[in-house]
Amino acid sequence: MKEGSDPKIPGRNDPCWCGSGKKYKKCHLGRDGKVQKPAPARMATPPLHAPLRRRGGAIIKTAEQVEGIRAACRVTREILDLLGERVAPGVTTEQIDVFVHEATLERGGVPSPLNYRGFPKSVCTSINEVVCHGIPEERAMQEGDIVNIDVTTTLDGYFGDSSRMYLVGAVAEAPRRLVQVTRECLDLGIAQVKPGRFVGDIGHVIQRHAESNGYSVVRDFVGHGTGIRFHEDPQIPHYGRPGQGHPLQLGMVFTIEPMINAGDWRIRILEDGWTAVTTDGSLSAQWEHTLHVTSDGVEVLTA
Ligand code: MF3
Ligand code: CO
Ligand code: CO
Repeated sequence: MKEGSDPKIPGRNDPCWCGSGKKYKKCHLGRDGKVQKPAPARMATPPLHAPLRRRGGAIIKTAEQVEGIRAACRVTREILDLLGERVAPGVTTEQIDVFVHEATLERGGVPSPLNYRGFPKSVCTSINEVVCHGIPEERAMQEGDIVNIDVTTTLDGYFGDSSRMYLVGAVAEAPRRLVQVTRECLDLGIAQVKPGRFVGDIGHVIQRHAESNGYSVVRDFVGHGTGIRFHEDPQIPHYGRPGQGHPLQLGMVFTIEPMINAGDWRIRILEDGWTAVTTDGSLSAQWEHTLHVTSDGVEVLTA
């Protein structure tokens, strides 16, 4: 803004605006434009509820929003805990669906997957070579299977998204190792999370650990911002290069959910339009948490 164009800024020989009685040029002229004057009142008063702020794609959550997301994540974690006793040979994934549905409603929530883009059930159940988005059905789980159960809860409009692997009865060494290494991939990714790091740092450590164990990282599905909507920006790939991609910022909430295949990383979608399977029929495992970036690191909201 040019000098004199603002009615509140006097000419050089006029009395200074500050009321000192000195000429403006002897008083505040040198400082105006260098010193920050108070913002106009309408700027200085923040709205009572801060609106969603988008910075480079991520929604930075307010403390109030994080509290709501934390509560949704707590319900998700409780349900995943309870599923530990329910997964067994002979149990159908349909029974798992009914349990998750009822347990969610009992806790005042709604299962987020139900009717999400046409998904027909309340939870995803992905057995053996199914990578993700398996639809619960009447077929029973069998001794030796590995199954991912992915629970997302909507509570008071907030989302909590987490998944775990469950072993059905006695499981052979090779699938158990895949489940274990995939778990380590998630933990290594989480250990990267703090302000100043990048999305690429997460993907890099996950890819390195998976591939050094002879496994591959699924490319077609990624982690994601979450909390206010089911899936928000940014995407969180489980492969990548250090220092690349979206910066991790205080107040971000997102998932890390590596899908790791024993064989090739390629997937295909079955006729149902949802079920993703490995193209080579190899086993696939996945673990997922919802995370909150704090000033000194990370809060695992679904832990
Ligand atoms: N919970 C899954 C995720 O981690 C998304 C499932 S979408 C659904 O992002 F429609 F299949 F439920
Ligand atoms: Co997710
Ligand atoms: Co999920």
